[in-house]
Amino acid sequence: MRGMLSPSLMCADMLNLQSEITKLDNLGVDYIHLDFMDGKFVPNVTLDSTIIRAVKNVIKNIKRDIHIMAFEPAQYFDKMNIGKDDIVSVHYEACPNLHEVIREIRVCGANPFIAISPDTKPEVLKEYLNEIDGIVVMTVYPGFAGQPIVKGSFEKIAEVRKMIDESSLNIILEVDGHVSWDLCCKMRECGADLFVAGSSSIYQRGIELEDAVNKMTSLIN
Ligand code: DX5
Ligand code: ZN
Repeated sequence: MRGMLSPSLMCADMLNLQSEITKLDNLGVDYIHLDFMDGKFVPNVTLDSTIIRAVKNVIKNIKRDIHIMAFEPAQYFDKMNIGKDDIVSVHYEACPNLHEVIREIRVCGANPFIAISPDTKPEVLKEYLNEIDGIVVMTVYPGFAGQPIVKGSFEKIAEVRKMIDESSLNIILEVDGHVSWDLCCKMRECGADLFVAGSSSIYQRGIELEDAVNKMTSLIN
């Protein structure tokens, strides 16, 4: 599977969101990564559900990659207008009723992904593999941009890759957190398919967005 790019909107210019979204839509990236935080599962709040809903009305060429860092994520699906083509990632650690939440994402016509935080072992996902379309390996602790990569992340990506390959299921491996210029190739070598690009790469100062997107796209393929 080719390397795909999902720029993280929370790292863009928050005072010019519509133009940031339109720039990405015109650059032909694959997804736009939309982080939602409830302030409880993680001690932070970023894009709210009305903004995530509004993004759907302005994108034509890219799809939403919605990362819900919240307890009881299903309560937000209507507010976000979850539907066809959306990736909806919910956290294993936040959902005691994960089978039910996955079913609710399917009912909306969207693609269920499970995100696991750095301290969660990949084997906990085995019972869900035939119900999901993707796994998000968090390579930082969820909640904040600009963090360093967590030790052991590459081994974890490789372990999840092995688990997916052994299942022979069509499951996308997404990596989220500190996907930097110097580490993204190693993440690719370990088996990542979809890369969340934020302040560690394409939203760094001193590089034009178009040049950054082109550079990252070539590095991950
Ligand atoms: C953090 C978010 C990430 C973050 C990535 O909880 O899930 O999407 O924006 O940004 P960097 O590249 O700064 O880690
Ligand atoms: Zn994210």
